[in-house]
Amino acid sequence: MYRTKTNGELRLANVGETVTLAGWVQRTRKMGGMTFVDLRDRYGITQIVFNNEVDADLCDQANHVGREWVLQITGTVAERESKNANMPTGDIEIIASSLRVLSKSDTPPFTIEDNTDGGDDLRMKYRYLDLRRTAVRRNLELRHQMAILIRNFLDARGFLEVETPILIGSTPEGARDFVVPSRMNPGQFYALPQSPQTLKQLLMVAGFDRYFQIAKCFRDEDLRADRQPEFTQIDCEMSFVDQEDVLEIFEDLARHLFKEIRGVELPAKLRQMTWHEAMRLYGSDKPDLRFGMTFVELMDVLKGTGSFPVFNEAAYIGGICVPGCADYSRKQLDQLTEWVKRPQIGAKGLVYVKFNSDGTVKSSIDKFYAPEVWQQVKAAMGAVDGDLVLILSGDNANKTRVQLCSLRLEMGERLGLRDKNKFECLWIVDFPLFEWSDEEQRLMATHHPFTMPNPDDIPLLDTDPARVRAMAYDFVCNGVEVGGGSLRIHDGELQEKMFQILGFTPERAMAQFGFLINAFKYGAPPHAGLAFGFDRFVSIMAGLDSIRDCIAFPKNNSGRDVMLDAPSELDPAQLDELKLDIKP
Ligand code: AMO
Repeated sequence: MYRTKTNGELRLANVGETVTLAGWVQRTRKMGGMTFVDLRDRYGITQIVFNNEVDADLCDQANHVGREWVLQITGTVAERESKNANMPTGDIEIIASSLRVLSKSDTPPFTIEDNTDGGDDLRMKYRYLDLRRTAVRRNLELRHQMAILIRNFLDARGFLEVETPILIGSTPEGARDFVVPSRMNPGQFYALPQSPQTLKQLLMVAGFDRYFQIAKCFRDEDLRADRQPEFTQIDCEMSFVDQEDVLEIFEDLARHLFKEIRGVELPAKLRQMTWHEAMRLYGSDKPDLRFGMTFVELMDVLKGTGSFPVFNEAAYIGGICVPGCADYSRKQLDQLTEWVKRPQIGAKGLVYVKFNSDGTVKSSIDKFYAPEVWQQVKAAMGAVDGDLVLILSGDNANKTRVQLCSLRLEMGERLGLRDKNKFECLWIVDFPLFEWSDEEQRLMATHHPFTMPNPDDIPLLDTDPARVRAMAYDFVCNGVEVGGGSLRIHDGELQEKMFQILGFTPERAMAQFGFLINAFKYGAPPHAGLAFGFDRFVSIMAGLDSIRDCIAFPKNNSGRDVMLDAPSELDPAQLDELKLDIKP
């Protein structure tokens, strides 16, 4: 046996026991005739003591070990003279009687501590060392715990876990595919699944009724803090259900996770907000409800009621009321104006109105409006003395709302209202079925082409498709889209019509989705489903800023694995075998 105990479990009750421990050297200290070694494994740290007066050779051996060496130590558990209340094992230490070096270590490139001196790139290059750090390890432990809770929850409700293949054809989630050349079929390529969407629908045709999978998905898209090219979904599908059934079961799952992991009780029934309301009040289909500052449209109050040309020409004027910030200085407001004008936000300018505590009003565009107008703004915004109202306008309402959304989130952040220990979850429902793509100059499916239109809107498919609502829903928490799904079309004719509106010729629809269209000819049950982004869900629970921190071996923002140095070039023999030429 390499060890009889771990480094995290010994307590005062173990005093007097002889134990053998194994682990990595966190650090060594020499004090007088004593040498102390902190030995670490994934369970904790235990202090080992070597006494020069008792065994000089052994102590000398301990003096020569370095950081991250792997040791096996036998000794007796003793009560510490100076206890460390910050460590679970801080009441005891091990009086060593033997030391064996299991492995030496080079000096690690950064310190393996909570506050490491290693930058991002370095830590990614040596990710196996980074993973030794408690904070990173904890995230993976949480991920494991969540996976177990989810599996058990779904299993108890009759969901069957089925694995679907990774080497498949193109899937319709709207990103680019990662492709894999086929040696046996030269010139032909597999695509990696963007999600198991079509396969899980086929499982419903097969009668599986309730399916789930902790599924790897691949999307070649630009990366952000909440996006990785390779990520994991908790992918689910059910037959013979309507939208409320689906929402109920998955909000139960969310409730269970929040309760078990964070001890947080979500409300008995989660709020449902229509997509239109979310856009109107928050300028986002994933509103952060941890704080207010909802948008108020000010067209009636400010357009045509004064001589400010920008407002008089605007298609949208909207404001947020920032509580208690009327004392913002000129400098702070100038900085905020520069902030909204950055290319990432793209606003042309920012108008402010300070409702000062002494009852006076000061606005950046005072000279264009009569004082009564500011009182109307105050009433419309629900502002009180001491509040700051920030206003954006533009010639495109949706774009301006998105800019105002960024400003709202920034103000929430500055005021400390985006508390990582507070959780506000809701469903966004009634998404539009289609959205217009400027790039492609055609309607695209907002979700994917298998999403069921709202039955009340089916006549609009012929007359005004852009107004058709989808039977689709997103699970949003703290401003993050954690999951999404929909009722699916199970009727061949309706599906054909969808493809037609989306600009697929029947031949192209058949070539790409013939397998599904054909399957639906053999008795497709009504079905619906949802997928949670597992990485995002774990990050929310752990309060992380990036999903990278809960992925064992993530990619960087250029999609590279810097540790494995992937992607990399193929050698000529491999290219030959695959019948591939690389364009210079
Ligand atoms: P959707 O495309 O909305 O739906 O994806 C579901 C959830 O997956 C997560 N997600 C991601 N997480 C990390 N990195 C990414 N690049 C990434 N892309 C998506 C999000 C998102 O909410 N097949 C449908 C689901 C269904 O209809 O059942 C689908 O994939 O949290």
